[in-house]
Amino acid sequence: MLNTIVTTDRKYHRDSIELAEKAAEKLGIQLIKRNRASLETLRENYGVENVLIAKRGSYTLDTPEGELFFHPNMAQLRIKNIRMGDGDHMTKAMDLREGMSVLDCTLGFGADSIVASFVTGETGSVIGLEASPLIAFVTSEGMKQFLATNYELHSAIKRVQVINADYNDYLKQLPDKSVDVVYFDPMFRYPLRDSHNINPLRSVADHRPLSMSAVEEAKRVARYRVVMKETSHSKEFSRLGFGEIAGGKHSKVHYGVIRL
Ligand SMILES: C[S@@+](CC[C@H](N)C(=O)[O-])C[C@H]1O[C@@H](n2cnc3c(N)ncnc32)[C@H](O)[C@@H]1O
Repeated sequence: MLNTIVTTDRKYHRDSIELAEKAAEKLGIQLIKRNRASLETLRENYGVENVLIAKRGSYTLDTPEGELFFHPNMAQLRIKNIRMGDGDHMTKAMDLREGMSVLDCTLGFGADSIVASFVTGETGSVIGLEASPLIAFVTSEGMKQFLATNYELHSAIKRVQVINADYNDYLKQLPDKSVDVVYFDPMFRYPLRDSHNINPLRSVADHRPLSMSAVEEAKRVARYRVVMKETSHSKEFSRLGFGEIAGGKHSKVHYGVIRL
């Protein structure tokens, strides 16, 4: 069903085998002994599109659109900007402060969740939902294993709670006004092809558009704001009732805001 097998890198390491076993069990996918085979040979032999590779302490998902793995590069840069006083368009759109709670409905690689977690701090909380079991697995395992040298980044990553769930189901189970901010960053209706960091995600991500009923649920669940990221001038903002638009004047992406 996941169109994926798991294996190790070509060199034999006990740690990699254990990691591969863990992924096979958790995701219910077949574990294949590598035997120095190329990824192309494995794809052909097992008739799958994706190969999850366990390699000493981390996972990489090799997809037809590129390699998907966790790295907090973008989050790190944005956190640096916040610390330098330059701010961040997403957290400004959320009007996010220390101690607040965020439900990030579209975790992906986790950059937005990590930045939100940095701002909300130790007294706040961030839950990241991800519908794709593969993306949820690679990001959550990456977050667990990543050792950042910078303490603030490290603790921001570790505080994010990852849940493999569809926001359409998850939101319905939450009580009214139970989190401060509900955030959506769905796959854009018209992708920005030059966003190379998102490309590897495309073949395994959930591409369904955000629905009006999910926005209604988000408005019920959020105490303070519902925020959605889309490309600048996207018709999704008006279709879904995001009347207020925030973000950089010349930026390719904007944030729709619903104040509650
Ligand atoms: C554009 S990416 C998000 C990127 C993310 N904000 C980041 O900072 O890395 C969108 C993600 O949302 C996920 N997604 C789409 N629909 C979803 C749903 N109904 N429930 C949970 N996750 C969903 C996709 O699988 C994809 O990984």
